[in-house]
Amino acid sequence: MGKSIRSKGQRKNRALRREMIHKPKEEERLNRLVENEVVETKQQEQISVDTEKMETEPKILSKKQKEMLLMSPDSCLNGPKITGCRNVDLYEKLNRIEEGSYGIVYRAKEKSTGRIFALKKLKLEKEKDGFPITSIREIHTLKLIKHPNVVEIIEICTTSNFNHIFIVMEYLEHDLKTLMENMAEPFLLSETKTLMLQLLSAVDCLHNNWIIHRDLKTSNLLMNNRGQIKVADFGLARRFGSPMGEVTQLVVTLWYRSPELLLGATTYSTEIDLWSIGCIFAELIDNSPLLPGKGEIDQLSKIFQLLGTPNETSWPGYYDLPNTRTVNFANQPNNNLTSKFAYLSPLGLDLLNKFLTYDPQKRITASEAMEHPFFKESPLPKPSELFPSFPSKASGERKRYHSPQI
Ligand SMILES: Nc1ncnc2c1ncn2[C@@H]1O[C@H](COP(=O)(O)OP(=O)(O)O)[C@@H](O)[C@H]1O
Ligand SMILES: [Mg+2]
Repeated sequence: MGKSIRSKGQRKNRALRREMIHKPKEEERLNRLVENEVVETKQQEQISVDTEKMETEPKILSKKQKEMLLMSPDSCLNGPKITGCRNVDLYEKLNRIEEGSYGIVYRAKEKSTGRIFALKKLKLEKEKDGFPITSIREIHTLKLIKHPNVVEIIEICTTSNFNHIFIVMEYLEHDLKTLMENMAEPFLLSETKTLMLQLLSAVDCLHNNWIIHRDLKTSNLLMNNRGQIKVADFGLARRFGSPMGEVTQLVVTLWYRSPELLLGATTYSTEIDLWSIGCIFAELIDNSPLLPGKGEIDQLSKIFQLLGTPNETSWPGYYDLPNTRTVNFANQPNNNLTSKFAYLSPLGLDLLNKFLTYDPQKRITASEAMEHPFFKESPLPKPSELFPSFPSKASGERKRYHSPQI
């Protein structure tokens, strides 16, 4: 039965393609679809290749559709257009910065201007039959976001045969994970405050635009040598293929994952990003990951050890979550944050606790966090122009340790 459904779907797909070639109106219809759903939140982890749904809600595009969408200067109706894609040959690759699970990132020079950019080559192996339209929407959404702490997407490039897609972004010298691994001492509290305010401001902007990042962690926060961090890696590439075997555990990290996700909540929202921000805050203070779990159960167990086992009082609805019945944890009644971060001021601890609040409804929002009095007590956030600069591993500079001056 599955087979006949699929072949029916394929017939529709072909018919749609034929139609598109003959009817420019169809292209318009497609563009409207893109436009209408452009502010979709990132609820879908995987894109399912389901040709049956093509007629009503195309999830993937055929090669022809892909060409039309990418090459037509009128692909989207409003806002910045996904205009005709330029050829990636206009850039000269300088060095490979990182090979992640979903794409390879290069440092590259635009040949005509000599300007340096980062190029992320998306892995498309799993999408031989079409280009996932949800990714186009997501790229489009990100192009709409202009914020000093969100990495700017410049353009999308392709190879002449369309086999590879590259996202061209502004280049930043560091990611926070690599940088922190090479720092002898953690960031100063004044620096941490500045970085946190920047992160919160970026995430507040995303949330106001109905975008949940879902993968906030230090390796997805880029930093330049002017004391600025920028949120990157919006899972753009995640929709294109599965993670590569061995590196999966390392890259798709659980460490920043909220307890509601770990416990199988089917509905979640922007609060999951605030949990991750809490973990990042603690990591910035301590210079080591807060909750480095080795698997989902271990992750939950580490959370409960640190914050106490949740119950109906601390988290109304806790027992309704799918996984609370299947896993049993010994009761641990204490919140140990105060003893772990004994040197942090009461206001700092208060903010940390507000990020790491079990009940997503009670967890602090990004805009509330920016107003927290912790940021107004001494030491005050350090102006970003006073940040030290660091040797950039991504540019192939030698590692040197940072000794804070102030
Ligand atoms: N715009 C950029 N400038 C400099 N380095 C970058 C940039 N984007 C990504 N990187 C580097 O590449 C790494 C992987 O990129 P990312 O977008 O997070 O891909 P993945 O989906 O593989 O995690 C980052 O952790 C960072 O080190
Ligand atoms: Mg990443």
